[in-house]
Amino acid sequence: MRLGGKSALITGSARGIGRAFAEAYMREGATVAIGDINLEAAEKTASEIGHNAYAVKLDVTDLASIDAAVKAVEARAGGLDILINNAALFDLAPIVEITKTSYDKLFSVNVAGTLFTLQAAARSMIARGKGGKIINMASQAGRRGEALVAVYCATKAAVISLTQSAGLDLIKHRINVNAIAPGVVDGEHWDHVDALFAKFENRPRGEKKRLVGEAVPYGRMGTAQDLTGMAVFLASDEAEYIVAQTYNVDGGQWMS
Ligand SMILES: NC(=O)c1ccc[n+]([C@@H]2O[C@H](COP(=O)([O-])OP(=O)(O)OC[C@H]3O[C@@H](n4cnc5c(N)ncnc54)[C@H](O)[C@@H]3O)[C@@H](O)[C@H]2O)c1
Repeated sequence: MRLGGKSALITGSARGIGRAFAEAYMREGATVAIGDINLEAAEKTASEIGHNAYAVKLDVTDLASIDAAVKAVEARAGGLDILINNAALFDLAPIVEITKTSYDKLFSVNVAGTLFTLQAAARSMIARGKGGKIINMASQAGRRGEALVAVYCATKAAVISLTQSAGLDLIKHRINVNAIAPGVVDGEHWDHVDALFAKFENRPRGEKKRLVGEAVPYGRMGTAQDLTGMAVFLASDEAEYIVAQTYNVDGGQWMS
């Protein structure tokens, strides 16, 4: 087991990619806090995936909530070894229709949420003196802009930049900060994305999903399971010398 005895907090893990990460970490021997704004869904997920998972109420836009979640993990598991900053929101609009409300929501969850959860986790890890692993969820959307996706793309570019700065600052404490940049991953999130593209590009529902899947060099959309290998690796001792990197796990969509 590659994460035996480790304690992990995964934000936004009541469903989707975060849930798949939680299941993979449990299989590798970790104890996992399912941190989500939707406590009911987090509790359901924790009870479904096994006795080493527990739910923690967490709103990554609220500093007091972040602090309470990290304290809950320390109390339950004796400390925090691994954080995945996975919670995020998506929206889509032409430049001339972007609203300040949408901008504020996305930056507050995707960027401030990532930074201040990372900060709270790092403080806890530094105080404990055992180092740690922090993994941020970026996206291929952070590698380049997209006509209708300006704000989300900008938030994910910011996540890549924060990963670099935090990675460089925290490695002296033996805290490795790295990121994963997925491409297009099927699930409830992409059902929402597909509905937005249907509206703004005047397409039938499902068409955008089919097209993006066909455009992936591997030949299909990704699944949450396609990402778990990298998430386990980056949290394991094998990744000790990896610092401030963002890894594409996207079926060949982006090369860097
Ligand atoms: N699905 C994709 O195609 C794709 C592609 C690239 C990157 N990503 C990234 O991967 C990560 C997971 O994506 P997903 O598809 O599983 O998303 P999802 O929308 O299915 O799940 C997001 C989870 O975050 C939770 N959440 C929302 N706001 C929160 C808050 N303020 N505090 C705590 N939790 C909150 C939600 O309740 C939900 O459980 C995100 O960072 C996303 O940007 C996804």
